[in-house]
Amino acid sequence: RTVYVNGEYLPEEEATVSIFDRGFLMADGVYEVTSVLGGKLIDFPGHAARLDRSLTELEMTAPMNAEDLLEVHRELVRRNGIDEGLIYLQITRGNPGDRDFAFPPADTKPTVVLFTQAKPGLAANPTAKVGIKVISIPDIRWGRRDIKTVQLLYPSMAKMAAKKAHVDDAWFVEDGLVTEGTSNNAYIVKGGKIITRNLSNDILHGITRAAVVRFAREAQMEVEERPFTIEEAQGADEAFFTSASAFVMPVVEIDGKAVGTGTPGPVAARLREIYLDESL
Ligand code: PDD
Repeated sequence: RTVYVNGEYLPEEEATVSIFDRGFLMADGVYEVTSVLGGKLIDFPGHAARLDRSLTELEMTAPMNAEDLLEVHRELVRRNGIDEGLIYLQITRGNPGDRDFAFPPADTKPTVVLFTQAKPGLAANPTAKVGIKVISIPDIRWGRRDIKTVQLLYPSMAKMAAKKAHVDDAWFVEDGLVTEGTSNNAYIVKGGKIITRNLSNDILHGITRAAVVRFAREAQMEVEERPFTIEEAQGADEAFFTSASAFVMPVVEIDGKAVGTGTPGPVAARLREIYLDESL
């Protein structure tokens, strides 16, 4: 694999960053995951805009403009011959040369890393035909989940709790209400109405969420943006999640209870189809 690090395209074995990097010592960095279908980047402008926002919120200067960033993405797709897959981008506050809680001087060069992950069959993922199971888990993450930081320890622990429970993923719950999944936005469908938590600092503003909500409304489906409980989700007709890596994925079981018929519902299936059609 050819990867990108700080202006250079290198074989992955030759790409290195400092042990003093703020990303490594402090999880002081942000990231984006963009999918590739048919060699084409999906929703790139949305990911670039959110990256900009994450950087601004953390007082980090953008190392390059969106146009140059797009070119790096395209070059990596070309060099690695990616037809279906993902591109991971990470920007950290760089290497101050030592460990210190205070941010380094603003002219410290950020560390920019990009790599591709080939995922043949990403769009045709057979899991979307059977759906996935989730458990609920307390949301004890920090209060700025709208910033896409690399602080992913708790989501990783939640994923392990899901594995231990022999299910696929976990939905976070705070104050009795579902916030989002470990790495996705959560939805339910009741009486034809799509319900998903409203945007705030409590959840990541999913790029796939924005597109899916728009497509649903364009298709005359009703979308209500408000929080819901696990009990409401268990009693819903359907549940699903969205993310750049899974698009629209049906959720058929929550905490051991089947949602609806326990099989993927028509609304999730239709939204997945619309999303993939519109993206290709
Ligand atoms: N995760 N919520 C969280 C906590 C996420 O980490 C993600 C994305 C989403 C969905 O956002 P989007 O539609 O823009 O991908 C929601 C990525 C895919 C990841 O961490 O791999």
